[in-house]
Amino acid sequence: AAEPSRAGDYAGRRVLITAGGTREPLDPVRFLGNRSSGKQGYALAARAAARGASVRLISANADLSAAPGVDVIRVGSALEMQEAIRGHTDWADVIVMAAAVADYRPAVYAESKMKKTHAPGTENDAPTITLVRNPDILAGLVADRGAATSPVIVGFAAETGEPGRSVHELGREKLARKGCDLLVVNEVGVDVTFGRDENTVHILRQDGGPPIDAGPARKEIIADAVLDAARDLLV
Ligand code: CTP
Ligand code: CA
Repeated sequence: AAEPSRAGDYAGRRVLITAGGTREPLDPVRFLGNRSSGKQGYALAARAAARGASVRLISANADLSAAPGVDVIRVGSALEMQEAIRGHTDWADVIVMAAAVADYRPAVYAESKMKKTHAPGTENDAPTITLVRNPDILAGLVADRGAATSPVIVGFAAETGEPGRSVHELGREKLARKGCDLLVVNEVGVDVTFGRDENTVHILRQDGGPPIDAGPARKEIIADAVLDAARDLLV
């Protein structure tokens, strides 16, 4: 097949992207976090802008600089990300949830730094941290859209696979559960993908069409493949 023409194909389109990984605070100096670098989300923002889109990037704890013309909104935690997204869902034609959102947060935030117990005989003492579920932001976006056809909603899923269950199979299940239009599945391990410039993904489609495989390739190339698939769903 010929290279799809991408020059300006997003002109007049509004794209909202989340990137990075949320941090769930325990106290003023500690948090629960994850290994997401934000590179894939920033690459999506750069490519969408290069293809003519207006781009808003909700960035969680990524130490990267955005491409010129991209509006960056910085957040820390999952709840902050949800709040930030709320202000832009009506604006967006496409929403890409590339961020790694924490599933849980500490039930309690300590206003002052937590201290060890120093009394004699407490050397092996350790606190138990109770977690509570964070809202599923992506599922919430799908629910809020209801029967409307806009915005196009794209999820990401980093999967390691499990004994007897392939990354593909887990991705299919997740796509059905989330109800988004596209699910970009990438295989991860501690040394695979996180922080790297190259990525391999399978783009699964809610419309039943065959999955689109992309990579191994630079995250800009992966971003273009994701934007191609989303563009084909724009009304
Ligand atoms: N996501 C979200 N809100 C959450 C968790 C995840 O919006 N609280 C989004 C992510 O940004 C991503 C997609 O959902 O686009 C899939 O995230 P993932 O962690 O793979 O899915 P989960 O439903 O949390 O499933 P798992 O149990 O595998 O973590
Ligand atoms: Ca999760």
